[in-house]
This record gives sequence, C-alpha cells and structure tokens, in this order.
Amino acid sequence: MKPHKHVLLNLRRMPPAEQLRVSREFVDRMAARRSVRFMSSEPVPFELIENAIRCASLAPSGANQQPWKFVVVKDPEIKRRIREAAEAEERESYEHRMPQDWLEALAPLGTDCHKEFLEVAPYLIVVFRIDFGLTQTAEDEFRTKHYYVQESVGIATGFLLAALHMSGLATLTHTPSPMGFLANILDRPKNERPFLLLPVGFPAPDATVPDIAKKSITEVMEIR
Ligand SMILES: Cc1cc2nc3c(=O)[nH]c(=O)nc-3n(C[C@H](O)[C@H](O)[C@H](O)COP(=O)(O)O)c2cc1C
Repeated sequence: MKPHKHVLLNLRRMPPAEQLRVSREFVDRMAARRSVRFMSSEPVPFELIENAIRCASLAPSGANQQPWKFVVVKDPEIKRRIREAAEAEERESYEHRMPQDWLEALAPLGTDCHKEFLEVAPYLIVVFRIDFGLTQTAEDEFRTKHYYVQESVGIATGFLLAALHMSGLATLTHTPSPMGFLANILDRPKNERPFLLLPVGFPAPDATVPDIAKKSITEVMEIR
C-alpha cells in the first residue's frame, strides 16, 4: 500500500498562561468524575450522547483501524432484557464464581447483583471491540488482522467517559461477567466482542458515591 499524503497539523499554539489555565481547569473538572450507580430516568438530549461518541471515535488506534463500535440502547424493552441477563450473570458470579479475594475487594463498594440502573438510565452505551476485519460476500469471507485492539478500545472508552463527564452526565463503567449476552441481545456480527457496558444519564437527585481516595501524584508519577 502507498503511504498517505501529509497535510499540515492543525494544533493551535496557546500562550503559556492560557495553557496552564486550561490544563488546571481540565484536572478540576475530571476530579469530579465518579462512577454513579444511582441514575435518574430524566431524559438526556441525544446530541450529548452522539457528540461523546464522536469524541471517542477520534481516539488513536493501532494502524488507525478504529476497532470499535458503540451501540446506543434507548429502547426500554432492550434495556429490560439487558438488565435481566446482566443480573442473572452477576447473581451467578456473586454466589458461585467469584473467589473470596475478589468478593473482599468489592465489599467496600457495596455492589451486589441488583442492577436497577440498567433500566433507569435513559441510555446504555455498549462498547464492542472489533477483533478482526470481516468482509462477507455470498460465497466467501475475508478476514484481516487487527492490531492492539484492547489498547485502542480502552483509550477510546477513556475519551468517551471524559466527554460524557464534561457534558455533565453520569456514567458507570460496568462489566457484568461474562458479557456474551450483549452480543446476542444486540445481534452483533461474529467479529465483535462486548468490551464495556456504560449506563449514561443524569444522576439521581440523592445519588451517593463511595468515599474513596485516589493515589497522590507522587505515588503515580516518577521523574527520571
Ligand atoms: C474496567 C472496569 C470495570 C468495572 N466494572 C464495574 C462493575 O461491573 N460494576 C460496578 O459497579 N463498577 C465497576 N467499575 C467501577 C469501579 O468500581 C470504579 O471505577 C472504582 O471503584 C473507582 O471509582 P470512581 O470511578 O468513582 O473513581 C469498573 C471500572 C473499570 C475501570
């Protein structure tokens, strides 16, 4: 394949004071992001969801293959089926599959197999990873290899969470395990695998979050 032609980079150079202000404001805004397990059913303007997905789809990806698909669920009946299936998997996990040390790690968060937020939130965004390229004709099927799928979809999901938060919406990063039921309910092609399930909405008026601490900058950063 021929190399791409190049175009000029479009990155505005900011005066240093503006650069610092923007950077500090972004940290402050992101510091208020929390995983929210108590959602309101209040409607959310769809453009907020669409813009956040636009933002996610601008993420870097291995060989620019963009190996992601964001399925937005708003239909109450599909949300009900997803909640039912997620709760069934989670009940099995909490009661039989999770080893004691996993249950102990989760205990401070107070989570259990009840996932009311999956029906209450106005939108569920189901993130799928596309493990390989797939072109199907009447007779044949062609597969192409995808590179760094996990890393790429993880980065795109980070963009998505940041964009939703910056629009004033609450999210929960949810991984009912195993998640195969999402591919079945949402009728996905065989090259897509569920990556994360994100209920999105306004938080319930009385929503609370666990009082947890984040590591300090000196714990997470080393300078050499
Ligand atoms: C990959 C991943 C999977 C997670 N899965 C769940 C989940 O299934 N259920 C849940 O209630 N929280 C889940 N969480 C949320 C974490 O518990 C939460 O991010 C963590 O406690 C830190 O809290 P914060 O997001 O409010 O900062 C998950 C987070 C990540 C990054």
